[in-house]
Amino acid sequence: MEIIIQPTPEAVSLIAANIIANLVRDKPDCVLGLATGNTPILMYRELVRMHREAGLDFSRVTTFNLDEYVGLSPKHPQSYHAFMHEHLFQHLNVPRQNIHIPNGLAADIAAECAQFELAIRGAGGIDLQVLGIGTDGHIGFNERSSSLASRTRIKTLTEQTRHDNARYFGRPEDVPMHVITMGVGTIMEARQVLLLAFGENKAQVMAAAVEGPISAMNPASILQMHPVAKALLDEPAAAQLTLGDYYRWVYAHKPDWQQFVRGR
Ligand code: F6R
Repeated sequence: MEIIIQPTPEAVSLIAANIIANLVRDKPDCVLGLATGNTPILMYRELVRMHREAGLDFSRVTTFNLDEYVGLSPKHPQSYHAFMHEHLFQHLNVPRQNIHIPNGLAADIAAECAQFELAIRGAGGIDLQVLGIGTDGHIGFNERSSSLASRTRIKTLTEQTRHDNARYFGRPEDVPMHVITMGVGTIMEARQVLLLAFGENKAQVMAAAVEGPISAMNPASILQMHPVAKALLDEPAAAQLTLGDYYRWVYAHKPDWQQFVRGR
């Protein structure tokens, strides 16, 4: 895994947005896997700025979101449909029909999950998947002990995740118990993965994900097996990495022939 450590979330988000922008320019019909939560918001803001100010064109891009709460309508303010509309889609020119977010109101959840997997395959697979990480190591909503080969399916959230996400809801008990999430196996099939983490409350889990043993007890740790995965962290999130100085040194000394890869 390539580890990129930057002083601030803004600096990390700029690099991540540049990686996506380069992909969109190189492959205008690329397929992006997207995440919700606090972590990608600054990156989305940067992409919106690039679209407005530099004409970055998303008119042929297809997107798949990682997850959605079961039982929330797309219009519910805490749904991930609403989140994506607010932070990204209302500001970009991604065609409506190219946007895929699991339907948390589906009458047949298993069929919805199977259809989601088919749609990813039909689009030619995900070129780049954006990930945040839960304080317990979850990616998407693949909680600890999730199968590392899992596909899109319904999952039950842990109390920890419901507690972490309660800040978005009026009352903690309003946080849904169930979600539809891409599986770990689905995520691992993306051609490139960007894992973003900010803040000291992610330091322990990031050290375990990047340097610890691969284990279903930290689903993000499977990314060590991904051929093109980058972890992008701010300094507080990098604080517990054993080899932090080495990663900083590597990034600062990328050889010239690799410079074009910087930000890619
Ligand atoms: C969101 C998702 C989750 C979040 C994770 C971190 O679509 O799949 O895995 O990335 O819970 O959330 P934040 O960024 O709010 O700390």
